[in-house]
Amino acid sequence: MKITVVGAGAVGASCAEYIAIKNFASEVVLLDIKENLAEGKAMDLMQTASLNNFDTRIFGTTSDYKATANSDVAVITSGIPRKPGMTREELIGINAGIVKMVSENLIKYSPNVILIIVSNPMDTMTYLAYKVSGLSKNRIIGMGGALDSARFKYRLSEALNCPASDVSAMVIGGHSDKGMVPLTRLATRNSLSVANFLSSERLNKVKQDTKVGGATLTKMLGTSAWYAPGAAVASLVQSIACDQNKMFPCSVFLDGEYGLSDLAIGVPVVLGKRGIEKIIDIKLSKEEQDQLIQSAESVQKTNKILSDMKLF
Ligand code: 2OP
Repeated sequence: MKITVVGAGAVGASCAEYIAIKNFASEVVLLDIKENLAEGKAMDLMQTASLNNFDTRIFGTTSDYKATANSDVAVITSGIPRKPGMTREELIGINAGIVKMVSENLIKYSPNVILIIVSNPMDTMTYLAYKVSGLSKNRIIGMGGALDSARFKYRLSEALNCPASDVSAMVIGGHSDKGMVPLTRLATRNSLSVANFLSSERLNKVKQDTKVGGATLTKMLGTSAWYAPGAAVASLVQSIACDQNKMFPCSVFLDGEYGLSDLAIGVPVVLGKRGIEKIIDIKLSKEEQDQLIQSAESVQKTNKILSDMKLF
């Protein structure tokens, strides 16, 4: 199994590290435009192989897409991260052109690749990759909901004073500070609704803290987070590479599911060897459906900025 990660910044390098440690891939190619950055990080990571007991071989390359040829899965993390106070949507002017160029270069050498998009604004970048790649929609996956759900579980485990492994919870909708829809109604602690343990006020605080999870860390770190994004991507890649059929909320192109069309936004999907094996169209409450529609309207607004850039 060959995996390419484009962008050897903090998120891309974390992603490569977690994929290697999970030891399911034979090869990870890390690519960056900055001279020797990917090569250096690949070498540093390979020097952990005997310590972390993985056999995956990690190679770095400076802008040579030939090295990515015949990748099964390719992750796009390239572009600029946000700074404190910025929204993800403000990155579109710079990141859209990068994501288009990277998608086209990847497909040139790996025509059957499955693309995972991380670059922000992620839902719109996923839509862009779908439009420019010519790949079927099951091969274009936006990573946001898996990260947001991990943050949701963290906040719930904090409120419940229990291990995050005891919590099951999902965030759907847009990967944006205002557009996320944490499904508190369906969240459980070991199969029991969390409403048994937390007041509606406390649950609302968990919901709000989840929605700004990325912004909170950007303010603390001075740049976007990288450990949880990298780990979230590695989980998606593993489900695809190992044909695990795990369910994650991912940004996918919708053709009527949830009453939405012509946009990519976070909904539950099953990930296996074909990429998106199935979109799970669950019955939402009226409140949840209204929030999802509102989120979709916001994503559509950002998509409009993209279409005005005439990139496809
Ligand atoms: C985040 O929320 C980078 O969008 C990513 O941390």
